[in-house]
Amino acid sequence: MVLEMFSLEGKRALVTGASRGIGEAIAVGYAKAGADVALVARSAEDLDRVADRVRSEGRSVVTAVCDVTDDAQIDRAVASCIDGLGFIDVLVNNAGGPVFNAPLIDFRDDGFRRIVELNLLSTARFCQRVGAHMVERRNGSVLNNASVTVLHPNGTQAAYGAAKAGVVNMTQALAQEWGPSGVRVNAFSPGFVRTHINRKLLASDEASATAVEPVPLGRWADPEEMVGLAIFLASDASSYVTGAHIAADGGLSLAWPHVF
Ligand SMILES: NC(=O)c1ccc[n+]([C@@H]2O[C@H](COP(=O)([O-])OP(=O)(O)OC[C@H]3O[C@@H](n4cnc5c(N)ncnc54)[C@H](OP(=O)(O)O)[C@@H]3O)[C@@H](O)[C@H]2O)c1
Repeated sequence: MVLEMFSLEGKRALVTGASRGIGEAIAVGYAKAGADVALVARSAEDLDRVADRVRSEGRSVVTAVCDVTDDAQIDRAVASCIDGLGFIDVLVNNAGGPVFNAPLIDFRDDGFRRIVELNLLSTARFCQRVGAHMVERRNGSVLNNASVTVLHPNGTQAAYGAAKAGVVNMTQALAQEWGPSGVRVNAFSPGFVRTHINRKLLASDEASATAVEPVPLGRWADPEEMVGLAIFLASDASSYVTGAHIAADGGLSLAWPHVF
């Protein structure tokens, strides 16, 4: 059966930012596709809720409360996830977000640094820890969640965009470093997805409709619409795909304003 190549049966995945939004959807989607899952985020309560959803799919689950901007917490989280699942062969670096938006001239160093630490340095740190484990096992797939802002830069998001562009560049560098070990590294870039980080836009019908006007598909995505791509990149169906950066943005990165 050709669809068997998309199965995650026997795989063990660590998903950061798994307590809600895109990370929750991917973690539960992976469980439905057959993977055991380790869930990482700061909110223990939300992790427990997502863990129940994974268990109800008949899969094993481990949770690790961790602030991904804290090196020591990452060390402990990765060790407990590998210990709890036995090994990890899929890593989804998903925790992140813009934190706040402002013109660059108004940024202070600590705000810029916070955004880079949350989105870029955290991804590098998880890649170091889990990547070393994968390279040693000569098996693994890493998925880094970037953003459409890499392809369609946005004023007021210079720090977030630069950090996410760094995530894509690092993805491509690691695909080269780890290719000889059989470890694949890819990035995906969501567009407008209905999650907590967009709560202000979503609270206003007018603002949320205006936001997606330039999107060729003309609408927001649900977090579950990121799952098919995430399963593809984690599974044997993408066994010859590494160093790729794939947009899941409804076409937004191609869009021109409707002026003609
Ligand atoms: N939604 C979109 O339109 C969109 C578009 C492009 C890219 N993205 C990217 O998609 C990823 C997921 O975002 P989302 O839209 O699903 O937003 P979300 O619903 O706010 O989820 C963010 C996740 O990251 C975790 N997180 C945030 N800061 C953390 C920290 N310091 N340590 C550990 N975990 C942390 C949160 O958990 P805790 O609060 O429990 O720690 C939560 O699980 C982000 O990297 C974001 O940049 C989203």
